[in-house]
Amino acid sequence: MRIFVIGAAGGVGRRLTAFLTESGDRVSGMHRRPEQASDIRAAGGSPVAGGLVADSVSELAGRVRGHDAIVFSAGAHGTGISQTTAIDGDGLEKAARAAVEAGVRRFVLVSAMPEAGRGGQPVERFEHYMAVKKRADAFLVTTPLDWLIVRPGTLTDSAGTGAVRAGLALVYGAVSRDNVAAFLAAALHAPRLSRAIVELTDGPTPVAQAVQHVVRTMGR
Ligand SMILES: NC(=O)c1ccc[n+]([C@@H]2O[C@H](COP(=O)([O-])OP(=O)(O)OC[C@H]3O[C@@H](n4cnc5c(N)ncnc54)[C@H](OP(=O)(O)O)[C@@H]3O)[C@@H](O)[C@H]2O)c1
Repeated sequence: MRIFVIGAAGGVGRRLTAFLTESGDRVSGMHRRPEQASDIRAAGGSPVAGGLVADSVSELAGRVRGHDAIVFSAGAHGTGISQTTAIDGDGLEKAARAAVEAGVRRFVLVSAMPEAGRGGQPVERFEHYMAVKKRADAFLVTTPLDWLIVRPGTLTDSAGTGAVRAGLALVYGAVSRDNVAAFLAAALHAPRLSRAIVELTDGPTPVAQAVQHVVRTMGR
């Protein structure tokens, strides 16, 4: 498959690029800073300079055209409220519109579990982040795309175990970026895992089986 990763120089994006290219997929990795091109090459991908804020929908469509799938794993990473709106919110909407314009139907979004950060004192910036993530999910499901939303728990940099818990609704937990990337790579090759919201934590089930478990849970 030819896969276009938005946020390819990020923690999940780099790992996903490596997983996919190691198993024979071709990855175009979008990045906004010139020095990130070498990170994407090192992971086996082909760097594509571009930005979710700077680019128009048509410019993004031009970049993604010809690919079989798009993975959106970009994020403002706590850099502020307006950045979160622009990247995780408006940026997702632009990328989805670009996918429609370019005719790339498969679109996988890395979102967040709504239970993240519950139980403490609400912090405005984090509440805003969660609201923007939900708005992005709500937008994507209205598109004609063959979408999949993956909601990981708290991301960690622990070494991947290749084993997760994946389901339509899960108790909150953490998940390594390695395991998220492995699950995304498997999900991209499971066309029946489509038009679904899947929650993800570390767990006991090898990713390939976890993908099939969700497909069965959906009755497909
Ligand atoms: N942290 C958590 O516990 C958690 C939990 C659930 C879900 N998530 C979500 O999981 C996703 C992946 O997380 P991660 O840890 O891999 O994030 P990350 O390391 O911050 O990677 C995000 C990538 O997005 C890129 N990006 C930012 N603004 C962009 C723009 N305008 N145009 C194009 N690319 C842009 C960043 O590039 P720069 O380096 O140039 O900024 C970075 O490479 C994010 O959407 C995050 O919100 C996180």
